[in-house]
Amino acid sequence: MSRFIMAIDQGTTSSRTCIINQAGGLVAEARETFKQIFPKPGWVEHDPEDIWYSTQRSMRLALEKAKIKGSQIHAIGITNQRETVMLWDKKSGKAIHNAIVWQCRRTQDLCEKLKKNKKEKMITAKTGLVLDPYFSGTKIQWLLKNVPQAAAKAKSGETVAGTVDTFLLWKLTNGKSHKTDVSNASRTMLMNIHTGWWDEELLKLLQVPESILPEICPSNADFGVTQGLGFLPDGVPITGIVGDQQAALFGQACYDLGEAKCTFGTGSFLLLNTGKKAVKSKNKLLTTIAWKLKNQEMTYALEGGAFVCGAAVQWLRDGLGLFQASSDIEALAKTVEDTQGVEFVPALTGLGAPHWQPEARGVISGLTRGSTKAHIARATLEAMALQNVDILVTMQKDLGKKLKGVKVDGGAAANDLLMQLQADYCGVNVVRPKNLETTALGAAFMAGLGSGLWKDIKEIKKVWAIDKEFKVKMNSKDRKARMQRWETALKKV
Ligand code: G3P
Repeated sequence: MSRFIMAIDQGTTSSRTCIINQAGGLVAEARETFKQIFPKPGWVEHDPEDIWYSTQRSMRLALEKAKIKGSQIHAIGITNQRETVMLWDKKSGKAIHNAIVWQCRRTQDLCEKLKKNKKEKMITAKTGLVLDPYFSGTKIQWLLKNVPQAAAKAKSGETVAGTVDTFLLWKLTNGKSHKTDVSNASRTMLMNIHTGWWDEELLKLLQVPESILPEICPSNADFGVTQGLGFLPDGVPITGIVGDQQAALFGQACYDLGEAKCTFGTGSFLLLNTGKKAVKSKNKLLTTIAWKLKNQEMTYALEGGAFVCGAAVQWLRDGLGLFQASSDIEALAKTVEDTQGVEFVPALTGLGAPHWQPEARGVISGLTRGSTKAHIARATLEAMALQNVDILVTMQKDLGKKLKGVKVDGGAAANDLLMQLQADYCGVNVVRPKNLETTALGAAFMAGLGSGLWKDIKEIKKVWAIDKEFKVKMNSKDRKARMQRWETALKKV
């Protein structure tokens, strides 16, 4: 009987499940969107029950579409939006407040206070992160301080905390397993990336008791087994957990030092494999854990992310009503040669790497009577690419050499115009794989390695195949002029 891996990809705007066969092929996929909650400007929340129900629905639907029995699932892998965090009741498994989403800026004041108290240097040295509301640590502190009874319940052991992977694992195992993996833990600002464990000094500083946090495991560990789900038999092992950007790096087969990928999701994220060394950025990129395989050393990465990428297209669609489907943007943008001076800096939830300006907000500038929605659409695509250039240039500075190329994935990587703009503005060739679902694939690979479906990385490397390479066409003079216009626009946020 054939055996399959079920890969859950719980993202910022949707929960997805992919069924992957032993050849690494995508057999079926199901996606469920869920509600985004914006209680105040700059605040973003998710209802954890929505996360769980949409995940379950996508699991059930994917099984149906694949026309396979639950008993054919060899193992489950989880990949997830990172940093988003929640507290839940141990007995009922119900969250005691909405999850605070990675994009949420509510702990900006707290971060400022920590900066004033000169804590940033110590935090960066231990975690590889910059002091920003993006990460889970200050969000957990906010929950413990602001949700009635939360701190008391945490102290008495009634409430536990976790990122999305941990919450889903808890639900899948019927409360039997409270674990996370190194890649997710490295985004909490509570873990020392050099020791691989929760850090006492950081826990004390952010007033988070270690007892509410999950056990940190390798990314292909035995995390637990399913229990009480109904649509899956009890006992299916969960053998892979990895944060979504690290999963994409894994699914893109970037296993060697110096290999990089860029994922176009809600945000866009560039990760560079730096091997066994935690490379310290001199330019405000993040040093993060890529993964750790059982009985092997840690693999590190340098990361830069722009908070709003696909989310800008969504805003054009839903906020401004410029088109009906996100994919319509390419045809609309192609109706004009250029933006005619229109610039869009999509800092809708602040600016991420390498700028780190949580207070920044979006700006559309250069509008004239002749500006149309096509110019705004084109300016949006250009901005999505330009943000990545800022990160890539910084990455090359840290690395001390030019990257050979960047592998791309995520929904918007299917947009040929955007990919050509990306290659031209970066001055580096862009390589698109056949399978754009590299995040789910990465989680599947991780779970398959953990469960023994695949023997080693060499075996899974064969699955990755190239679709198209976008070669640099723009000359350096034009590139320089374009970057100057972008830099001027950035100053307006
Ligand atoms: O760090 C946030 C990231 O993990 C979110 O990814 O794909 O939901 O935009 P995505």
